[in-house]
Order: sequence, then structure tokens, then C-alpha cells
Amino acid sequence: MMKKCFLVAGLLFGFSGIAMADGLTAPSLWKNQRGSELRITAVTGSSLHGTFTNYAPNTQCQGIAYPITGFTTSGPTQFTVNFVKCGTVTTWSGTAQPFGYSAGWVLRYKGQVEGGYDFFYRVN
Ligand code: BTN
Repeated sequence: MMKKCFLVAGLLFGFSGIAMADGLTAPSLWKNQRGSELRITAVTGSSLHGTFTNYAPNTQCQGIAYPITGFTTSGPTQFTVNFVKCGTVTTWSGTAQPFGYSAGWVLRYKGQVEGGYDFFYRVN
């Protein structure tokens, strides 16, 4: 009976581990559905280091690797990019899973705000 309990508990923890968030890791390269790239070069504590390169159609500031600032945890993961040349700042917030990072974003430009969603999948 005791053995069965351990087996069931082990299976439960094992399976839940597969679906649990574990944050972004370094080094890693992610792409979103708009073709933009998120490169994580280091994670120190929970702080994220790396770059974001925008390739979204019908947007400005494409092909420039801007530094990111942000954090990653087993709960929320958030990063911000200052697109200096465009005068816009975007923050993504979501939860990083082994299979991808789904995040809502808010873009600010001269007091105006735009929002949307991106899904990042790991490419490297
Ligand atoms: C700008 O056009 O002002 C700068 C580039 C903004 C690109 C946005 S940020 C959110 C969304 N996801 C992307 O990958 N690109 C766009």
C-alpha cells in the first residue's frame, strides 16, 4: 500500500513537472509569431540579460538588436525594450513554459498606449 502511494505521488510530481513553468534560461534564442527575436545571453538571479530584435511587419525599428531589461521566475517573466530610434518602449509580461513563452505586451509612444500578444517559441 505504502509503495503504491509513493508510486502515485512520484507519477503526479513527475507529470506536473513537465507542465510547470521554469522561467527563461541562458543561453537561448526565441522567435515570436511576428518574426522578432529574443536572445537571452544570461540570467543572473532572476534578472534577464540579452537583446530583442524587431522584425514585425508594418513596424519601425526593424533589424536592430536592442538590450532588454527584465526578470524571469517560475511565475511571471517580464522584459522591456526601449526602441530608442523610434521613441517607443514596450514591456512584455507572461509565463515562460518549456514549450514557449506567451506574453501580453504594452507599447508606449508619446503618452499613447498600444497592446497585443506575442508567442515566443524556442529556436536554439
Ligand atoms: C515601433 O514601431 O515603434 C518599434 C517597434 C515595435 C515593435 C512591436 S513591439 C510588440 C510587437 N511585437 C513585435 O515583435 N514587434 C511589435
